[in-house]
Amino acid sequence: MAIAVVFVVLVVASVLFHLFTPWWLPPLASNWKTMDDTLQITVVITGLFFVVITLFVAYTLWRFRHREGHKAAYQPNDHRLERRLIIITSVGIAALLAPGLWVYADYVRPPREAMTVEVLGQQWRWRFRFPGADGKLGGSDARFVSAANPFGLDPSDAAGADDTLVDDNELRLPLGKPVNMILRSHDVLHDFYVPQFRSRMNIVPGQVSSFWFTPMKAGRYEAMCAQLCGVGHPDMRGFVRVVEPADFDAWRAGLPSFAAQRTAAASDPLARGRELAQSKACAGCHTVDGSAGVGPTWKGLFGKQEKLEGGGTVQVDEAFLREFIRNPQSRDIAGFPNVMPPVPLTDEELNALVDYIKAQR
Ligand code: CUA
Repeated sequence: MAIAVVFVVLVVASVLFHLFTPWWLPPLASNWKTMDDTLQITVVITGLFFVVITLFVAYTLWRFRHREGHKAAYQPNDHRLERRLIIITSVGIAALLAPGLWVYADYVRPPREAMTVEVLGQQWRWRFRFPGADGKLGGSDARFVSAANPFGLDPSDAAGADDTLVDDNELRLPLGKPVNMILRSHDVLHDFYVPQFRSRMNIVPGQVSSFWFTPMKAGRYEAMCAQLCGVGHPDMRGFVRVVEPADFDAWRAGLPSFAAQRTAAASDPLARGRELAQSKACAGCHTVDGSAGVGPTWKGLFGKQEKLEGGGTVQVDEAFLREFIRNPQSRDIAGFPNVMPPVPLTDEELNALVDYIKAQR
């Protein structure tokens, strides 16, 4: 009997919570009102079933409670009842799924005039790419990734030379223009998700996925990764800034092309070392801006006298850096835990990395 009352209270509290909760979706900022409608349909149908079934259970608990002189009767089956339940359940499930199929079909079929934007996910940041004047994105592959080519574009594909690159976590988009988002990953599963646009899509390594939307409200929206993709997953945040079309055109015109980026990287002697600091995970413990990390910052490190644990000092010169990177456990630097793992590097890589550390003044 008490359980029946608990069930009724649960239903009333759930409905009231749904009606009065402040935790609701952020205001819609894209064309996808149908996403919200689908969500509403799901909430109404599942909510209705929840209310009816829970109240029915409460009723039977009360109606068939134990009483003196009453005895349960055994009824092995009831075909009529079963048929009715099967039909009601089937209609309910079809009503839940069918609207989603229509909306999803729309969601992955962009209008002809949609502008193409590529979203590139990698542990743990976002990059974006627009096709150049030819309207075509050049081919790409993770094996082309290097300091001079962080997007991994195929250098032999002529269609890629004029692609414009956004080497930044913020993408700008023009207000009111449909965009076709092409998604690609360099490493593991990610998911590009902007709640205000009601749009998200998994990014599967080795595959290209896509969806489209039209931004309908200017503003800056957070784009988050919605698939657990490693320790840096919560930091994998980007932004989409929706601006007036004229502002967008001006911004896009100022973006570097793939060809220009390669030329610039080729003339930057430190690019190789900077890329190694990232790819060999040095940057996880060593900053280059002077801020504290697990290990000493590289800013001003070269030429410094470092104190050794247990007394004595050592001069940070090229010979010391080489020796220490090859065999980090050989010396114990005062003030830092002795936790650096040996990093496998070729001689060429070691030279590039040491040059990069030297340059951090
Ligand atoms: Cu990428 Cu989570």
